[in-house]
Amino acid sequence: MPRIPPPVLVAGSLNSRDQPELTVDDQFLLRPWMSADKEVVASAYSDPAIQLWIRRSLDLREAEDSIAKWNRDWQEEVGAYWALARRDDGSVIGWIALVVIDLEAGLGEVAYWVSASARGCGAASLATATLASWAVDELGLHRIELHHSVHNFASCRVATKAGFELEGTHRSALLHQDGWHDMHAHTFFGKELDV
Ligand SMILES: CC(C)(COP(=O)(O)OP(=O)(O)OC[C@H]1O[C@@H](n2cnc3c(N)ncnc32)[C@H](O)[C@@H]1OP(=O)(O)O)[C@@H](O)C(=O)NCCC(=O)NCCS
Repeated sequence: MPRIPPPVLVAGSLNSRDQPELTVDDQFLLRPWMSADKEVVASAYSDPAIQLWIRRSLDLREAEDSIAKWNRDWQEEVGAYWALARRDDGSVIGWIALVVIDLEAGLGEVAYWVSASARGCGAASLATATLASWAVDELGLHRIELHHSVHNFASCRVATKAGFELEGTHRSALLHQDGWHDMHAHTFFGKELDV
């Protein structure tokens, strides 16, 4: 029985292509994760700020398993994960992902972290804008969501700089180490809405 309306994107829209490398600017790029990145991932997840806001830690074995899952998610069309790397020496400074992809609904949700030593140079905001534009313009998703704790001021700034408008606040929405946090909901459409 046909769906009314039809799906925004059909199955195969993601996994019929290889995960692309995305240019952020002349300093940074986004590339798929490799098993060899496990040390940098495990090291990043020992950072208290990443544990607080991303709400997990990863040891070396868990990092390797996570990288395998991130790459599997592309094949299963439920998520897409990139390493944020410097173009000059290839070093990985961050993680950015569509942690949710719903092709049928045309929906994605973005999340990110940057290693403590590389913060503050604008890479997170530029990478977020790059990924959101790719998700809308190249993949064809309609709506990209971004949720962060109202206490995570840096993430709020990243969202705003990347073109994600603040839509509202979900009350007591996500459990963190220190209790339930209200969460800001930002969205990116990449165009004026025709409603
Ligand atoms: C959020 C995070 C990715 C930002 O990385 P970053 O490299 O500092 O990001 P950018 O350099 O692109 O931009 C950061 C912006 O936040 C601002 N900022 C940083 N700390 C801030 C704070 N405590 N209060 C207000 N603004 C802050 C910076 O000034 C900058 O804005 P500006 O360019 O207008 O000055 C990084 O802090 C991080 O990885 N945190 C831990 C994981 C995390 O919180 N992920 C998001 C979960 S929703």
